[in-house]
Amino acid sequence: MRITGRGWDQDGIRVATEHSNIESRALMPTQFQDVTQFSTIDGTKEPEFFRRFVDAANRSPGIIASKTAILAGLRLKGGEKVLDLGCGLGDDAFEMARLVGSQGRVVGLDASETMISEARQRAQARDLTVQFEIGDAQALRFEDDTFDACRAERMLMHVPDADRAIREMVRVTRPGGRLSVFDLDFETLMIDSPYVEITRRITRSFCDGLKNGWIGRQLSRLLKQRGIADISAAPHTVVMSCPELELLLSGHLDHAQNAGIITAADAEKW
Ligand SMILES: C[S@@+](CC[C@H](N)C(=O)[O-])C[C@H]1O[C@@H](n2cnc3c(N)ncnc32)[C@H](O)[C@@H]1O
Repeated sequence: MRITGRGWDQDGIRVATEHSNIESRALMPTQFQDVTQFSTIDGTKEPEFFRRFVDAANRSPGIIASKTAILAGLRLKGGEKVLDLGCGLGDDAFEMARLVGSQGRVVGLDASETMISEARQRAQARDLTVQFEIGDAQALRFEDDTFDACRAERMLMHVPDADRAIREMVRVTRPGGRLSVFDLDFETLMIDSPYVEITRRITRSFCDGLKNGWIGRQLSRLLKQRGIADISAAPHTVVMSCPELELLLSGHLDHAQNAGIITAADAEKW
C-alpha cells in the first residue's frame, strides 16, 4: 500500500500579545465551554458554542493556511472519492467537492449531530453533492479501499483511540491513495503572560485535558506504524490573537479552578 500521509508534527502555537478588537470578538458566545469536550459536543451544556468556535477558528489566518496545505497534500483529481473525517461544519468537504466534480464523491463524517445538521443545511445552499453522516472515526462503516483520499483536520486530538482512527483511515483508503492529516500539539502552546507559573498550570492542564494533547508530535510515528511508507511531515505554526486565545481557553479556566489547578484569584488576574 502506498499512501502519502501528510502530517504536521511539532505544531507550535504562539500567541500574539496584541489586544485588537478583531472580528472574532463579535462571534464570542456569552458563555464559554471547555473545548477539551470536542469529543462529546452533543452532550455538552451548549453544543452551539462548538459550532461558533469552529466557524471562528476557521477564520484564523493560521488555520486558513493549514487548510491550503492539507488540500494540496490530497492531490485530488476529478472523479475521485474522498472522505473528510471529523468534517465539522462541512466547508472543507464543499471545497473538495468542487475539485472532484460531478463524477466524484465526497463524504463528510462527524461524531456530532449538531455539526452534521449544520453541514447539511449549508449543503442545501450550495449546488454541490456532499454526503454528510454521523459516525465515529474509530469504527467506519465503509468497505476496505472505498476512497481515493482521506483528510482529517484537528480531529485526532479529540478521539479516544487515535491509532484506531488512523487504522480505519488506512483501511478505507485504497492502495496508492492519499491521507492528509493535520493536528495540533498543545504541549507547544506558548503564551506571553507576566504570570509564568499560572500560565504553565493552565496550558498544561488544557493539554492534559484533551484526549490526545500530544498528537501533533505523534502523527508521523502512528502513520508509520500502520504501514504508510511515504510520509511527508511539516511543522506549522498557528499564531493566535488575544480574542482567539480567550475563545480557546476561557471555558477551561472554570475546569482548572474546580480541579484546584488554579484559584479564582489566579483566573481573574490571568
Ligand atoms: C476542532 S473540530 C474540526 C472540524 C473540521 N475538521 C474543521 O477543520 O473545521 C473537531 C471535530 O471532530 C469531531 N470529532 C470528535 N471526535 C470524533 C470521532 N470520534 N469521530 C468523528 N468525529 C469526531 C467533532 O465533532 C468536531 O466536529
